[in-house]
Amino acid sequence: MSLENKVAIITGASRGIGFAVAKRFVMDGAKVVLADVDDEAGQAAADDLKSLGDIMYIHCNVAERLDVRNMVAETLNAYGDIDILVNNAGIVVGADFLELEEDDFDRVLSINLKGAFLCSQAVARHMVEKVEGGGEPGTIINMSSVNSVIAIPNQIPYCVSKGGMSQLTKTTALALAKYGIRVNAIGPGSIMTEMLASVNSDPAARNRILSRTPMLRIGEPSEIAGVAAFLASSDASYVTGQTIMADGGRMPLNYTVEVPADQ
Ligand SMILES: NC(=O)c1ccc[n+]([C@@H]2O[C@H](COP(=O)([O-])OP(=O)(O)OC[C@H]3O[C@@H](n4cnc5c(N)ncnc54)[C@H](O)[C@@H]3O)[C@@H](O)[C@H]2O)c1
Repeated sequence: MSLENKVAIITGASRGIGFAVAKRFVMDGAKVVLADVDDEAGQAAADDLKSLGDIMYIHCNVAERLDVRNMVAETLNAYGDIDILVNNAGIVVGADFLELEEDDFDRVLSINLKGAFLCSQAVARHMVEKVEGGGEPGTIINMSSVNSVIAIPNQIPYCVSKGGMSQLTKTTALALAKYGIRVNAIGPGSIMTEMLASVNSDPAARNRILSRTPMLRIGEPSEIAGVAAFLASSDASYVTGQTIMADGGRMPLNYTVEVPADQ
């Protein structure tokens, strides 16, 4: 198994993409920490996966430095190491540009972007210490978005946070390259999770998404987990500073595609 004996922390892993990554990693042999603010769902997720391998839930608001420090300490206490960090926790707040509240702008940026910085820095300190002691370098994966490049007019802080995630990925990759620590990002297109739940009950919204998705379907969380498994594995040993778009063909598309009536 490609992640045998590795220890992975995945933030925002109580549900959605983070949960799918956790499931894939534990199936690939990793010991996995699910970190989230939704303790009930997080504990239930850990219980759900525990028959597959070593897995535990830790409460962590990624925007809070002390929570992050505790998450790292608790992981080291339980599993003795951290090889992989997936910065996946993220929220959206939709608002018209002229109405957007300052608090909402700050909240999205502090979870989606500052949270990834805090977790990366805390985990990288451990990873660097390990390399300097003769150990194996670890790897960091940031959950970005196609919205790191293209934009939605009523998702201002979200798009700004993901644009920042792209630069955070590059700067962290450059800073840690000399230790052999790789840092990459995944840019999902539209993936069927609670973040996209409104689309299920809104045919016009679904049609809008499909018209911008040449593969004419919404992605599954497991399809993002597959990319994370590749980036975490030694198969990606010479890949760093990249954002891999997993978007059904959205990024290369100008204009729209025709959506057949039966889609
Ligand atoms: N679903 C999509 O279409 C899509 C597309 C592109 C990018 N993404 C990105 O993928 C990631 C996961 O998205 P998802 O669709 O699974 O979302 P989701 O809403 O289903 O899950 C997000 C998880 O993050 C947790 N979370 C929220 N705030 C947190 C905090 N402060 N600290 C720790 N955990 C916190 C939530 O409790 C939840 O478990 C996000 O970064 C999102 O931006 C999703």
